[in-house]
Amino acid sequence: MNNIVALLAAQYFEQVDPPNLSLPDGPTLISPAIQNAIFSSMFNEDTASPLPPVSYQTRVLKIIIARIEESISDPEEDEILDSLLEKWTTLLSTPKSSALEQAQKLTYLKYTAPSPATTKVSSESTGRRTIITSENRSLILASGTTGFRTWEAALHLGTFLSTTSIGKSLVAGKRVIELGAGTGFLSFLCAKHLRADNTLVTDRDPTLLEQIDDCIGKNGLEKTRIRTGIWEWGLPLQVPSFAVEDEDVAKREPIEFDIALGADLIYDADIVPLLVSTIRNLFDNYSLKEFVISATVRNEDTFRTFLDTCGKFLSFTRVGSQ
Ligand SMILES: C[S@@+](CC[C@H](N)C(=O)[O-])C[C@H]1O[C@@H](n2cnc3c(N)ncnc32)[C@H](O)[C@@H]1O
Repeated sequence: MNNIVALLAAQYFEQVDPPNLSLPDGPTLISPAIQNAIFSSMFNEDTASPLPPVSYQTRVLKIIIARIEESISDPEEDEILDSLLEKWTTLLSTPKSSALEQAQKLTYLKYTAPSPATTKVSSESTGRRTIITSENRSLILASGTTGFRTWEAALHLGTFLSTTSIGKSLVAGKRVIELGAGTGFLSFLCAKHLRADNTLVTDRDPTLLEQIDDCIGKNGLEKTRIRTGIWEWGLPLQVPSFAVEDEDVAKREPIEFDIALGADLIYDADIVPLLVSTIRNLFDNYSLKEFVISATVRNEDTFRTFLDTCGKFLSFTRVGSQ
């Protein structure tokens, strides 16, 4: 796939606001090869599934078609590809959700995992290094959880784990557990692209874990390598699928982990003691060797309390702090 189209497709599957998409210029878009690549990588159910919501697809294709039309100087020579026009007609006749429904609905987002080799989006990276989550960017807090979207701290930690040699060595070949996983973005990254031996994705919210279970299949991952478990901090870990799914995994009991990950978990002073006791529990009872957490520091006092409490039983290094 052409690099310009690869970049556009990567942004499109992350549902970047249409005016902010890196759209090729008109003369480039006129090319039938480019239009064909746009159709097959962004709008064709058979080759690009899961596609973004119909309303989003419609907004993007509208801009693309308008730009092609503006650039047509010779109608005999230049044209809009039939497949794009047919898709446009189908999208127009497909019922759309209301704005309120859209604001509450979860949709599949396809992230492009950060690549250590190059910062450019190549066809190889969009073809192979994707992470599919089920989420809604506009849901800050819904049904009592903040986990229905992937937060910036998870994206930053994902970049650290994928692009630095220290980050990659933390995960490769290791048994990973993620706490407060939300959409499971980091766990999918570890299982799919960072060669984790196995990954346990945990959160306290069963609805989030159902979405993650669905996305395990969407990401083409086997449940023998990544599975979900409920872990509300301060209570026992519940891993219902652990023993029944796979005999080999069951034989590895007692459950042990090499590394635990957490992103954006330090936002509420009330839950810091529970989080810290869970981290301690992991070190004391699950053979944990390292815990890596990324945080958006919303409140310096809460963050300081977390560091001070951890500092009583752990030695830690702060990476990339501002
Ligand atoms: C801000 S979200 C972060 C989600 C994800 N780590 C990310 O960065 O995208 C916080 C997550 O912690 C989970 N959480 C909050 N309190 C928890 C608790 N006491 N036990 C377990 N999980 C909890 C929430 O359900 C939510 O998924």
